[in-house]
Amino acid sequence: MKLAIGSDHGAYELKEELKTWLKDHSYDFEDIGTFNGERCDYPQVAKTLAEKIQAGTADRGILLCGTGIGISIAANKFDGIRCALAHDHYTAQMSRQHNDANVLAMGGRVLGPEVAKDVLQAWLTTDFEGDRHQRRLDQIKSFE
Ligand code: RB5
Repeated sequence: MKLAIGSDHGAYELKEELKTWLKDHSYDFEDIGTFNGERCDYPQVAKTLAEKIQAGTADRGILLCGTGIGISIAANKFDGIRCALAHDHYTAQMSRQHNDANVLAMGGRVLGPEVAKDVLQAWLTTDFEGDRHQRRLDQIKSFE
């Protein structure tokens, strides 16, 4: 599984922490920026990551901004993107089991790094259950 991870300035430090965790756990990932703490616009980060998933150069993605809200709203504008904003373990698990979320969003001003790592691990290690949930995803897809 190839991952992409991106953030705006509001979560730059969290992105760096999560990159270390991903490396330590042998995940294959690409950092799509931002590459410093200077102010930038989260929609552009969401666009870059969404287009990587659409092109198949990333399988799943992690998007971070101050709250996770703006970047998740932006990502969900792109066809095929199912971005879940999750700040707890249960929501992260359910976003995989029921929603097949292919992007996880979190807020760097909301979560400390240890909770964010727990949320990320839950999201990375939980599989989609399919069945009736696939029917609902097909309905969502038909709205695109
Ligand atoms: C940037 O200040 C902030 O608005 C952004 O990181 C995010 O929280 C938006 O939803």
